Amino acid sequence: MKYEQKYAILKIGDKMEDRLLTSEELAEDKSINIRPVTLDDYIGQSEIKDNIRVYIKSAIMRGEPLDHVLLYGPPGLGKTTLAYIIANELGSNIKTASGPSIEKSGDLAAVLSTLEPNDVLFIDEIHRIPKFIEEILYPAMEDFYLDIVVGSDGNSRNIKIELPPFTLVGATTRAGDLSSPLRDRFGIISKLNYYTEDELYDIVKRTSRVLNAEITDDAARELAKRSRGTPRICNRLFKRVRDFALVEGKGIIDLDIMKTALERLKVDKMGLDETDYNLLIAIIEKYNGGPVGVDALASSIGEERTTIEDVYEPYLLQTGLLKRTARGRMVTDMAYEHLGIKKK
Ligand SMILES: Nc1ncnc2c1ncn2[C@@H]1O[C@H](COP(=O)(O)OP(=O)(O)OP(=O)(O)O)[C@@H](O)[C@H]1O
Ligand SMILES: [Mg+2]
Repeated sequence: MKYEQKYAILKIGDKMEDRLLTSEELAEDKSINIRPVTLDDYIGQSEIKDNIRVYIKSAIMRGEPLDHVLLYGPPGLGKTTLAYIIANELGSNIKTASGPSIEKSGDLAAVLSTLEPNDVLFIDEIHRIPKFIEEILYPAMEDFYLDIVVGSDGNSRNIKIELPPFTLVGATTRAGDLSSPLRDRFGIISKLNYYTEDELYDIVKRTSRVLNAEITDDAARELAKRSRGTPRICNRLFKRVRDFALVEGKGIIDLDIMKTALERLKVDKMGLDETDYNLLIAIIEKYNGGPVGVDALASSIGEERTTIEDVYEPYLLQTGLLKRTARGRMVTDMAYEHLGIKKK
C-alpha cells in the first residue's frame, strides 16, 4: 500500500489536525505499521465492518467495483485507515486526493484520468471540494464518464471521456456539509462512532504488541478510559507514556507510570484536555453555564469555530458534559460536578 501519498496529503491538511497528529507522529506511524491493514485487524466498528465485508465479497463475486463509500465521523476514529483497508480487501490499488487540494476542475479531472479498472479513489475531506467542481463527480460516480468543457468562451464545447469502473471512498468529519446530490451518489454511507472502553483496551494491547512496549492490564484499562473514545489519541498517548516509562519508570508501562504520565500530559480521568477545560470553564464563568452561541464561544477561547464543532464538541456532547439547545451550548450539572465548580 502507498502510505507515502497519504502523508503528503495530511501535511497540507487542516490546522485542526495539528493538535491530534504531528508530523513526527506521522513519521513514526509510517516506519512501524501501527495502522491495521485488514478488516480482521481493525478493532471495533463491528456493524460497519460486518456490512462492508459482505459488500466487498459480493462485489468480488460479481466482478464489479464496490459501490461508492462515504465514511464520516469525528477526527481520528479510523476513516483513512478503513479506506486503505477497503482497497486492500478488494485487492485494488488506491489513489488518493484531498478536498482542499482540488481547486480547479482540472485537478479533479487529472486524478480521475489516472484511474484504472476497479481502483479505489480515496478523497479525504471530501466536503471541502468546491461546489462547482463537485458536479464533475456526479457523472463520474454514476456512469463512469468525465464531462469536461474545452476551449474558451465563444468556442467551447463539451467532451465526454470514458472512465474505467472505480470505487470512490470519501471521508469527512462533516457529512452535513456535503451537498445532497453528492451524498445521494454514495451507495454505502457509514458513520464511525467513538470507541468503547473495551475496544480501546484492545487497541492499546495491539499497539503494545506492534511497538513492542510492554503494558500491564490495569495500565491499558486506564489508558482506554482516558483516550476520548479515539484510537488516534490512544496511540499518541501510548507513545508519550512509553517515553515516561523508559526514562523515569521501570521500562514496562504500569499503572503508576501511566497515571503520572497522564497527569504530566494534562489528560484528566475522562480524557479531557486543556482545551476541553477552557471550553467548559468559559461557558460557566463567562456565560453563567450557557446557553452561548458557538461563534461567541470560539472567540472567547481563541479556537476556530470548526475546531470546536468537529473536534471538541462531539466528545463533550457524547459524554453528557455539554448539551446543545436551540439557543446555544450549555454545560450540564455533570460538568459542574466533574470540574468541582459550584453552580450559582
Ligand atoms: N479500528 C481501529 N483499530 C486499530 N487502530 C485504529 C483503528 N482506527 C484507527 N486506528 C488508529 O488510529 C489512527 C487514526 O486513524 P485515521 O487516520 O484512520 O483516522 P481518521 O478518521 O482518518 O481521522 P481524520 O478525520 O483526522 O482524517 C491510525 O493511525 C490507526 O493507527
Ligand atoms: Mg483521515
